Amino acid sequence: MKLLALLGGLLLAGGLDADAGDIQAGRAAAGMCRTCHGLDGMARIPLAPHIGGEPQAYLEDQLLAFKTGSRHHEMMSIVVSTLSMSQIADVAAWYASHTATAALPKNVDPDAAPDACVSCHGISGIATTPDVPHLAGEANIYLDTQLKAFRSGKRKHEIMTPIAAGLSNEQIREYANWYANSLLDIVANE
Ligand code: HEC
Ligand code: HEC
Repeated sequence: MKLLALLGGLLLAGGLDADAGDIQAGRAAAGMCRTCHGLDGMARIPLAPHIGGEPQAYLEDQLLAFKTGSRHHEMMSIVVSTLSMSQIADVAAWYASHTATAALPKNVDPDAAPDACVSCHGISGIATTPDVPHLAGEANIYLDTQLKAFRSGKRKHEIMTPIAAGLSNEQIREYANWYANSLLDIVANE
């Protein structure tokens, strides 16, 4: 019993699984992110996406993509180049530890949600599975830019690339507006 408890404690502390990320170390590292993303992941500048409560796996994947260059952005590529692999896991764990919820504005009919997207991104933009990002409340220009990046091949993903390939500029604007209008709420971890 004692051994099991010890093992459990090590697991919780990230002692056996370095990739799990240490939330408190991540909180400290988030000092490098807060001027743009906030400490709770609610963005402070219009260009930066909200990242609080995003799935940990998604956040870690994106930070790695900026690090390897498979995703590029003038600000993020520089920020991530200074992070170690364990800091990436830690800061992803920190931002994922918050809770994101969303609601449609009062007069909006949920049946009007884009059929092609809801199975993964939800009606109000809260993702339904762990590899999928929330879209709720992101700036429409951010969502528009990402969809066009998938369509042009600047950003690549096995699921999103073929989906975006079939979208017109009008559809991209419509879907970006739909999710941007959703009202995001992030309940901070502390
Ligand atoms: C100077 C502002 C700035 C700072 C500092 C910054 N970011 Fe960002 N971040 C951005 C912008 C702008 C984007 C959008 C990039 C794009 O358009 O592709 C972004 C995108 C991201 C994304 C992708 C989100 C998504 O939904 O795909 C993650 C994850 C992220 N940042 C995490 C971090 C972390 C963690 C830190 C601190 C270690 C950090 N950022 C520091 C501005 C910043
Ligand atoms: C089968 C699941 C699935 C469907 C359907 C889907 N997506 Fe995605 N979407 C994903 C995944 C997975 C990612 C993460 C891609 C990555 O890791 O780069 C993503 C990423 C995105 C992003 C980037 C978000 C960010 O924070 O950077 C946008 C924008 C987006 N999807 C919009 C849409 C729209 C609009 C539709 C409907 C036309 C749609 N998606 C349909 C799975 C899906």
